[in-house]
Amino acid sequence: MQHMFTDRVKRVMEMARQESVRLGHNYIGTEHLLLGIIREGKGKATTVLINLGLNLEAVKKAVEDYVASSGGKKVEGEAPFTPRAKNILEGAAKEAKEMRSPFVGTEHLLLALLKDRDGVAAQILAAFGVNYEETREEIVAVLGGRTTGKKGKAPSQEKGGLAPVKQRIDIVTSLPGPMSSALQSLSEDYEPATFAHGQVPFGFRRGKGVFVEDVDGNTFLDFTSGVLVANIGHGRTRVMEKIEQMARDQEITNSYNFLNPYRPALARLLMETVPDYCANLRVGKAFILTTGSETVEWSMSMAIRHQGKTGHPEKRRIVAFEGAFHGRTAGARHAGGIEGVSAGYGLDIPDITHVPFPDLYRPKAHADGRPYTLQDYIAGIQQIDAGSTAAVIFETYQGAAGSRMFPAEYLQALAAWCRRNEVLLIVDEVQASFGRTGRFYAFEHYEIEPDILCLGKGISGSVPLAAVVARREIVASQGGMSSTWGGNILSSAVALETIKVLIEERLTENAARVGAYMERRLRGMMDRHPILGDSRQMGLVGGLEIVTDKASRTPNPKAAERIVMGCYRKGLLLIEPIGLGGNVIRVAPPLVITEAQAGAGIDILDGVMTQVEGETA
Ligand SMILES: Cc1ncc(COP(=O)(O)O)c(C=O)c1O
Repeated sequence: MQHMFTDRVKRVMEMARQESVRLGHNYIGTEHLLLGIIREGKGKATTVLINLGLNLEAVKKAVEDYVASSGGKKVEGEAPFTPRAKNILEGAAKEAKEMRSPFVGTEHLLLALLKDRDGVAAQILAAFGVNYEETREEIVAVLGGRTTGKKGKAPSQEKGGLAPVKQRIDIVTSLPGPMSSALQSLSEDYEPATFAHGQVPFGFRRGKGVFVEDVDGNTFLDFTSGVLVANIGHGRTRVMEKIEQMARDQEITNSYNFLNPYRPALARLLMETVPDYCANLRVGKAFILTTGSETVEWSMSMAIRHQGKTGHPEKRRIVAFEGAFHGRTAGARHAGGIEGVSAGYGLDIPDITHVPFPDLYRPKAHADGRPYTLQDYIAGIQQIDAGSTAAVIFETYQGAAGSRMFPAEYLQALAAWCRRNEVLLIVDEVQASFGRTGRFYAFEHYEIEPDILCLGKGISGSVPLAAVVARREIVASQGGMSSTWGGNILSSAVALETIKVLIEERLTENAARVGAYMERRLRGMMDRHPILGDSRQMGLVGGLEIVTDKASRTPNPKAAERIVMGCYRKGLLLIEPIGLGGNVIRVAPPLVITEAQAGAGIDILDGVMTQVEGETA
């Protein structure tokens, strides 16, 4: 096919050839075409690149650095165009045709280079923040004698073209907005019911700090943190910039069990976060995984294997708690003590025994009807058969069961019993860690030391990562420990940044301070609201028990649902009611929340609760 290349493009091709010779290469590739464009220096392509804010010398240097190590031999005679470069020339002709130009100019050549995203030229330009779409826009503007004026804008603004997420509640459509409704019906058609029906119809688009924006442009105050994940707040610039840099520098690859610069560094940082009083755990090791459920699976297997390897093959049982939630993979599901989560899945794991949770709000009853006291529950610990038990697993507070807190005395008695009986203590802090409860780890409130610690959620904020931290000798008892995505480069790097933000910004202290304020306000509401049976709070996680009346403490899931929906309509995002009776409203904002923001959210909750009480009275 003959194309009408302008004389300038022909000069660019000649200069590309000369650049290839200068660099000692035996081919002409996309990188040489880019160098040709820069060296020729007078075409529309260079005007456009300059308009987009590029320093062409820096681009030239980047190309030279990039190809410096690629080797190649000087050849006599003419070096050939690579097949890729030939395609670029064809592509340039197509771009010209699409733009209704009778000639193929440097601007069309530039577009073709950018369109081939895997080409060296496109990758280098992408590293400078240049993409096909914006370049084409600028070309159209330049051809019309204008410029889009993108030069000098902050890179993120250039890319997204969006105003920052508002730092206040702002509802601009009727709710749900049209885009959220469309997403809901798409989800109904293609996803399990949990997604479309479980939650209020909020279609996540983006977030910043404690505010999240839906796909319709409405801004909500977030009392969910995702699902207790965004501890450092949404859309943290430091984390986003890290991800951007990694994408630009092509760092996001799968490293599997090979070394990568982030995974071992993350393991070390995790070990440094273990409190000093945990003399054994502090000198342990961290195994980086992807989801909380995996950490639970591993923790139980690790405990049983360690018991076997240290002379206790008969210790194969795991003791867990009624009402527990440890995840949804088979082993984790069965370690959980919520019937609906495990029943009917056909796989039973007999070595898990459930003991009662020491609930003092709705205590268990003795055969004669007397309610259990704390001492009764503690006495129950002695009934566990230590001889067959490898480990006890518990959440530091029970999340899914409705933010149920353990009495301190009970956990201390349990930990002491475990020590005495060579039973390992597995603490599942997938939900409770990384500052959430006002201590870096929630077990610190009780001054107990786990043998194995399960971590997840807030550890990495915006990408999936989880970890098992265990005593050194327990890790030494294991066989091969690996997983495809465990400790992957992207998640490990993000977790490192996330934990550093948590520590440097002292967000744990903020959680304790604002949490105490929220606790005061929420408990204060109990006097005024007949349906608010209890308010439990630890740092920035809390549960509001919605009941039919305070005397019977009967769960009132309908009223709880109405409150969650009512808050949604006023711009406060809450997760669907949790708890064994489906009646507990979970309050869990990001740890960056201020007292004023927390107060604004509580005002909404308070008002909506009054409204719901009025409707159901
Ligand atoms: C205490 C606890 N353990 C384990 C899990 C499971 O984590 P994942 O959903 O990441 O598998 C959860 C999730 O909510 C949890 O709250």
